[in-house]
Amino acid sequence: MKEILMIPGPTNVPDHIIKAMAKPLISHRSAAFHTLYDNISTNLKYVFQTENDVFILTSSGTGGVECAVANIISKGDRVIVPVHGDFSLRLKDTVKKFGGIPVELIVKWGNAPTASMIEETLEKEADVKGVFVVYNETSTGVTIRDLAKIGEVCRKHSVLFVVDTISNLGGDYLNVDEWNVDLCITGSQKCLACPPGLSMISVSNKAWKMIKTKGANSYYFDLLKFKQYHKKKETPYTPAIPLFYALEEGLQMLKLEGLKNRIIRHEKCANVFYEAAEASGLELYAAKPVRSNTVITIKNPQGINTNKMRKIMREKFGVLISGGMGAIKESTFRIGSMGIVSKKEVKITINALENALLSLGYRSEKG
Ligand SMILES: Cc1ncc(COP(=O)(O)O)c(C=O)c1O
Repeated sequence: MKEILMIPGPTNVPDHIIKAMAKPLISHRSAAFHTLYDNISTNLKYVFQTENDVFILTSSGTGGVECAVANIISKGDRVIVPVHGDFSLRLKDTVKKFGGIPVELIVKWGNAPTASMIEETLEKEADVKGVFVVYNETSTGVTIRDLAKIGEVCRKHSVLFVVDTISNLGGDYLNVDEWNVDLCITGSQKCLACPPGLSMISVSNKAWKMIKTKGANSYYFDLLKFKQYHKKKETPYTPAIPLFYALEEGLQMLKLEGLKNRIIRHEKCANVFYEAAEASGLELYAAKPVRSNTVITIKNPQGINTNKMRKIMREKFGVLISGGMGAIKESTFRIGSMGIVSKKEVKITINALENALLSLGYRSEKG
C-alpha cells in the first residue's frame, strides 16, 4: 500500500518532481546551472511576492532560520520574539545562541500575537533591533493573522521584521514587499511540494544595510557571499543540484496553478478538516480566527490513545499523520495539509481518522 504523508512536512511529492532529480548532474559553475538558477530565482520572487533577491541554501528550514539570525544578530542585540509554540521557542533559542537577547512576548498557545501586542512592547522596550516571528506555528496550528499589520508596526518603528514562513509559504497569503518583511524564510518540503533539503530566504534593502555593516557570524550562511555569487547566478558552495532540479519543477507547477489558486486550495482543504473535526465532536487546539491553512492541530479525545489511532490509520489505511509537539506533545495530534493536497487526500484522511477513532471506541454526541 502506498502511504500518503499527511504530516506537517515533508509532504507528498509528485512523481515528475521526483523524476526531475534523476537528471544527470551538471557543474554548478556552468551555463546550464545559470539557467536553472535563473528560472528558480524568477519563480521564487513570484512565490514570495517580492522584488528582493531570494537566496537558496542547501539546508533544511532550520538552516534558513539560523542564516537570518547569524546575519542580523550581534552580541547583546535585543529583539522581540513572540512565543506561541515550539517553533517560536526554537527561534528564541537561536537568537540566544548567537548572543542576542530575546525580549520574549508570551502568548497563550493556541492564540497568535497581534500587532497591538508588538507595538506596545516596542513602545515599552528600549533599543530593540527587530521583531522575529513564526508566521505559521506548526506545533499549535496557529497562523499570525495580523502579519501585515505587524510589518507596518515594524516599518513605523524602524526595526527589522524577520519571518519564518517555513510551513505556509505558498499555502497562505503573504506579500513580502507590501507587508514590509525584511527577511523571509521558507523550506522546500512543505507547501512547495518538494523534497526536504533546501531553504530559501529573501532579503530587503533595509536588511542589507544592517548586514553590510555587521557581517555574518557564520561562514556557510554568510549572506554577503551569497549576494556576491547571486550576481553570477551561482551559490558560493556546492549546491544540492538534484534538489534544485526538483525545486525548478515544483515552482513551475505552482506557477501553472497560480499562487492565489494554490492558497485557496489549501484554505479549502483545511476548512474541510476543521468542519469534519467539529462535526465529529473533536476539539481543535487553535482559536478559530487564527487557524492555520496548512496544519490542523487537534486535542486528543478523552480516553483515546492517539498513538494507537495513528498506528491504525497508517497500517489499515496507509495514512500518516503526526503526534503533538513540545509542551502539547502528549495532548494533541496534527494533520499536515500542504503541497499537492486535494479533495482526494482530505477524504482518505478523514475516512481513516473516523474509522480509527470508531475502532478505538470513540463516540461523540455529535455523531
Ligand atoms: C515553522 C517551522 N520553522 C522551522 C522548521 C524547521 O525546519 P526543518 O525541519 O526543515 O529544519 C519547521 C519544520 O517543520 C517549521 O514548521
